Amino acid sequence: MDAPLLPHDRLPEHIAIIMDGNGRWAEARGLERNEGHREGLESVRSVVRAADEIGIGTLTLYAFSMENWNRPKGEVNALMGFLEQYLESEIDEVASRGTRVRAIGRLDRLPKSTRRAVEGAVERTRENRGMTLVFALSYGGRTEIVDAARALLRDAELGAIDPERLDEKTFASYLYAGDLRDPDLLIRTGAESRISNFLLWQIAYTEIYTSDLMWPDFRKSHLVSAILEYQTRERRYGLTSAQVRSPGSGLGGGR
Ligand code: FPP
Repeated sequence: MDAPLLPHDRLPEHIAIIMDGNGRWAEARGLERNEGHREGLESVRSVVRAADEIGIGTLTLYAFSMENWNRPKGEVNALMGFLEQYLESEIDEVASRGTRVRAIGRLDRLPKSTRRAVEGAVERTRENRGMTLVFALSYGGRTEIVDAARALLRDAELGAIDPERLDEKTFASYLYAGDLRDPDLLIRTGAESRISNFLLWQIAYTEIYTSDLMWPDFRKSHLVSAILEYQTRERRYGLTSAQVRSPGSGLGGGR
């Protein structure tokens, strides 16, 4: 593994990325939109490898949203194909690095072959203890919250949860990957400043970094720039700057 590029103090433990701009990248070159997704796959390869080299604990990639199901069928199929291709071609390297693959979202909606590829990668890397690589697939932030509420209501009906004692920590444990800490840094490419229904619960205090680059142009050096910018931010969690700087303010890393 390469030496870390960045000092480890104040490294974001969890980075989440909205990979936007594949279509525009292609259209600007007179290519089919799917060519943008194909090149976007190269960015995924580069950024996943870089995140591991830098020492990031968790990387969550927004690969396919609930809303993306409404895209033309040909584009949906191509995206599923690229995901399968990534998992098949990279799984050996990912597994040998000790990376653990996980997936969040309504996976039951995925085509069988895609689901099989995802579940295979998750299963094969389950015991790994290196970087956690999370694919948000068929994912919607509101759907995730509704799914958590449904599971909670069921447990309440069974008497396993006392509604009076429900708190944020318990609620969060019902999310798709309730054991993961919240993202420290959210990167969005594609020159847009929207959350697009991504990790709505988890980004309450996440630092947001937007890039004007289209996703296929976003590579390792740009990830490093985003992390360097993150390292200049002061995370106050609603406190004053003086409180954050004085020791004993009682702030932990937070979820
Ligand atoms: C947004 O670009 C990107 C997506 C909808 C999907 C991201 C998919 C990849 C990077 C391909 C491979 C994925 C994995 C996880 C291996 P857009 O099409 O919305 O771009 P636009 O805003 O320019 O139209």
